[in-house]
Amino acid sequence: MSLPALDRLVPAHIQRFEPYYPSKPDHVLKRMYHVDTLHRLNNNENPLGPPAAVHRLVESFSPETVPVYPNGDCFDLRLQLAQKFSKDPDQFLVGNGSCEVISSVIKAFCEEGDNIITADKTFAVYEWVAEFSGIEARLIPLREGAFDPQAMLEAMDERTKILFVCNPNNPTGTYWDADTMKDFLERAGDGRIIVLDEAYFEYVDKADYPNGMELMRQHPNIIVFRTFSKMYALAAARIGYLCGSPEVVNIVRRTHIVYSVNTLAQMAAAAALEDDGPFIQATRRMVSEAKSLLCSLFDELGLEYVANEGNYVMVRLPMPDTLMYRKLMTRGIMVRTMTGFRFPNWIRVSLVERPVMEMFCQAFTEALRES
Ligand SMILES: Cc1ncc(COP(=O)(O)O)c(C=O)c1O
Repeated sequence: MSLPALDRLVPAHIQRFEPYYPSKPDHVLKRMYHVDTLHRLNNNENPLGPPAAVHRLVESFSPETVPVYPNGDCFDLRLQLAQKFSKDPDQFLVGNGSCEVISSVIKAFCEEGDNIITADKTFAVYEWVAEFSGIEARLIPLREGAFDPQAMLEAMDERTKILFVCNPNNPTGTYWDADTMKDFLERAGDGRIIVLDEAYFEYVDKADYPNGMELMRQHPNIIVFRTFSKMYALAAARIGYLCGSPEVVNIVRRTHIVYSVNTLAQMAAAAALEDDGPFIQATRRMVSEAKSLLCSLFDELGLEYVANEGNYVMVRLPMPDTLMYRKLMTRGIMVRTMTGFRFPNWIRVSLVERPVMEMFCQAFTEALRES
């Protein structure tokens, strides 16, 4: 037997698509870079978490639960989310990370010839899922680091099905304030789906930051994405969700994989929501302290940087980002290189506890001096 004729089997849009290779596990990287410890500042995780109720839950998790399939549609968690946000449980779909719900939404609304609109420098998964599904992704350049509402509206045509707005944006941390959002929603009209990706919602403490969960009452074409990976520190559990009007969610349900969220993740997410107030406050304090520390360092070094909302900042380097990456790795610090995300020679750094931030500052300063 020989390989099938892959050229003939594989659609052109898949042949064109470059796979994304995630980072190797810590044990491999530590060996490669000859370090004993590795601090991951590349994925915007929360090193404080998860909340205490999750610790208790995980410790008491029984192996007897494992042979049984999880709740197929996250019944109990959806009840809890409905209560928290004063909505109906059927307005929520929970996925294996919010990455999975991105895919469900694109599959539900788009077919060949359709397009989606988003920014050129934002969370790349909207673009990737569209492209490997054979759907055109129209990427609108950021304007002063932020999504450009006017240009997004101008890019719409009759085949535009979904507009993705990352609010606040990863990686620039910029957000549309309530007035900008209201104006955009009114001008976009109700003929398309507007996704508001609020993965970093809980990190934003600004009076003019709009809440998609409330906006969808006047704009039933909104779908909000939230995740337990960032603030709630459940990244390893892989759990995120969408919320929308019942009619819209009923459509997305058709393309949404059931049973993809494991039992422990469902229970941990429910526990994380129980008493999240003090935990969120403590995390915001950590992030704000780390942000000040890094901004002072970049100011001292005379480097351009972007530090807005969210638990990350970006800095522009006087050297290739891959070179800085390697230099930091040999000092036990991992950051995100940004050339692949259309920010050539920038890195993005997650904001974490003070001792680790101080290690980053020292390693970064040494790495710059060496060059
Ligand atoms: C803006 C944004 N949306 C969605 C996600 C996906 O999160 P997850 O699949 O872990 O829920 C991320 C992760 O980095 C993100 O930055």
